[in-house]
Amino acid sequence: MEHVQALVDQHFGRSNDELHIQGLAISEISETYATPLFVYNAEAIESQLNSLRQALPSRFNVCYSVKANPNPIFMKLFLAQGCGLEIASIGEYQRAIQAGCPPENILFAGPGKTEAELFEVISQGIGEIHAESLTELERLGRISRELGKQTHVAVRVNPTSEAQGGAMQMGGKPAPFGIDEENLEQALDVIAAESHLQFHGIHLFVGTQVLKHEVLITQYRKGLEIARHAAEYMDTPLSTLDFGGGLGIPYFGNESSLDLEGLRLGLQQLMAEIDGDPYLAKTQFLVEPGRFLVGPCGVYIARVNDIKVSRGKKFAILDGGMHHHLAASGNLGQVIKRNYPVAVLNKLEQHPAEEAIDVVGPLCTPLDTLARNVSLPELEIGDLVGIFQSGAYARAASPMGFLSHPVPPEVWVERGQAILINERKPYAH
Ligand SMILES: Cc1ncc(COP(=O)(O)O)c(C=O)c1O
Repeated sequence: MEHVQALVDQHFGRSNDELHIQGLAISEISETYATPLFVYNAEAIESQLNSLRQALPSRFNVCYSVKANPNPIFMKLFLAQGCGLEIASIGEYQRAIQAGCPPENILFAGPGKTEAELFEVISQGIGEIHAESLTELERLGRISRELGKQTHVAVRVNPTSEAQGGAMQMGGKPAPFGIDEENLEQALDVIAAESHLQFHGIHLFVGTQVLKHEVLITQYRKGLEIARHAAEYMDTPLSTLDFGGGLGIPYFGNESSLDLEGLRLGLQQLMAEIDGDPYLAKTQFLVEPGRFLVGPCGVYIARVNDIKVSRGKKFAILDGGMHHHLAASGNLGQVIKRNYPVAVLNKLEQHPAEEAIDVVGPLCTPLDTLARNVSLPELEIGDLVGIFQSGAYARAASPMGFLSHPVPPEVWVERGQAILINERKPYAH
């Protein structure tokens, strides 16, 4: 409960027992656009970006990882703030261009890029392509040659194990992501041998949902070591070093926010350690977070449609569920299913009822449970249940076609106004 209350106060607001966003009552927003829906607070994104920037030395730039939430309004906000975009598919590339992103501010990472995707981005223009395998490097060279283009290439490195960390570890062990550190020189040889490829940078990505700044600093130090080695091997100063995303946010009561002051001090120390290194003197450092920037701004709202007791256990059945928010149901890779921060948005200040309940969705599967054994105020049909930390990997990472329920709309609140940024659709396909 305390965790949810803190999130409400940090990223939203309240009045008369009810969640408010920039002065707008959530009951009115939910009445206007109907439930279930996602609502985002633009101010919360700006505040996350500003606090991150305060921790980053001036040589760092931020690229927003579009996969966290691909709605164009998110991209536009980050572009207006001077950020670049990190994309992982041709669809994200096209959306980024449509949102007004100059091609040179786009980074393309991710395994399994197809010939067609590479052909399109190289012919239309792209800032950097992050190679994830030796095959991809060969493809990049061939396509660039065919098109008569010079392509800026960074090597995404899967480092040896000492830089691991985060809830979902993506590096340091066998992985489809990046080129093993052990094979880095081989990759650099391929780049050096192809005149249409320009070695531009190193990209490190080893995990997501990292909540300890010490882990990030260990990873970044490792990244600097790899980057220095690569630049020395190629005998050229490095243009970019992308430390990846992975900055975490607290989902569960036992988690605390990332210590940004600790991160700031750690980064200051790292900058001092590389001071005077000619290979890194002009390197543009990048981070490409998704979750940290946009996770906290979003709340998923569904209405209680039924309440029932089965063999002594109470269930609240909502008009939305895991088809809109797979992560909250615990089915998006979580090993232990824990409850996302959940609250009754029209009863924020009421005490919890004596009995803990399960909050479930309308799908015909026991997987469709959004909160297990949760203590909430006494629920009634029509109450609004909100799931916080739902701006990233929520709607975008959910099986919205499952059972052909309507696809939930998205509402954006900026300068005290709510606007519909994605309409409800009758079904996904
Ligand atoms: C290449 C790459 N960059 C950035 C991110 C964003 O990660 P996060 O949202 O944890 O910051 C991801 C997430 O999977 C990724 O694969």
